[in-house]
Amino acid sequence: MQVLNLSDGFINEVLDPSLDLTAEIQRLKQERNAVLLAHYYQEPAIQDIADYVGDSLGLARRAADTEKDVILFAGVHFMAETAKILNPDKTVLLPDLNAGCSLADSCPADEFGRFKAMYPDHIVISYINCSAETKAQSDIICTSSNAEHIVRQIPLDQPIIFAPDRNLGAFLIKETGRDMVLWDGVCIVHQTFSEEKLIRLKMRHDGAQVLAHPECDASVLRHADYIGSTSGIRNYAINSPEQTMIVATEEGILHQMRKDSPGKTFIPAPPEGGCTCSQCPHMRLNTLQKIYLCLKHGAPEITMDEEIRLQALRPIKRMLEMSVAVV
Ligand code: 13P
Ligand code: SF4
Repeated sequence: MQVLNLSDGFINEVLDPSLDLTAEIQRLKQERNAVLLAHYYQEPAIQDIADYVGDSLGLARRAADTEKDVILFAGVHFMAETAKILNPDKTVLLPDLNAGCSLADSCPADEFGRFKAMYPDHIVISYINCSAETKAQSDIICTSSNAEHIVRQIPLDQPIIFAPDRNLGAFLIKETGRDMVLWDGVCIVHQTFSEEKLIRLKMRHDGAQVLAHPECDASVLRHADYIGSTSGIRNYAINSPEQTMIVATEEGILHQMRKDSPGKTFIPAPPEGGCTCSQCPHMRLNTLQKIYLCLKHGAPEITMDEEIRLQALRPIKRMLEMSVAVV
């Protein structure tokens, strides 16, 4: 058996093809007293074995509440980092350390520090899709579920910097009427949806409703009947009398939506170019094999500087306190 080191960001070991990965993962979870948390953008097989599947806020809350010794995060790096910030004494595992995020990458902490220094009287609200170092320079963290709720709690005379997602920021400006300074970052997945193809798709499906994530560009959001987080989109679809809906977010969410409402039709919104898929290349680095190996070897593990952790904990705690009312 060949075990490679972690220099690739994940453990690579040749597996016996007859291994029942699902059963092995369940066994190892018990053995290590681990909880498996998965984001909606994970492949269906991973969602099906997770102890909890949710959006960024739900996952942060679960990570904050868990009593297990080990948190295995089937998501991307900033999510696992958030779990570590909340649980310094627990082991937090991420199956592939390369699972990053274009929004987090768009906002390096040193550049962000210089940007922030240009607006000394501004409060900093950062979307959770950023590194621990950028969180450490923020006053409040938010997710797409609670962003509007949090912005509305800031006194009107208090100027705000919002980072790093310019689309979510622009959406919040529109919804709340607050004039915020925006960092210029985008999500590579949501930015790629095509307005022109969306209009054509909507016409082909008799004016089907469009449900969109606020990370989408304004050109797509203007055609949306509902705009919200992944959980918001999921709940809207459950409660809507509509039978056909076009969904403008990473297509992993369709797995739960189809399970919730087997009689309804959910169509992924089309991206620009020839590709018909809308998958996040970072989220999709996680596989059942990597989850199995990660549990088996207890690696790769998230580690971080304690000073940064403490600085990043403050705005995350503030988010959790300010969004108790958000379900
Ligand atoms: P939510 O699941 O919180 O809506 O966020 C979507 C996302 O892009 C996570 O990376
Ligand atoms: Fe980041 Fe976009 Fe992937 Fe979410 S979908 S992890 S925002 S790149």
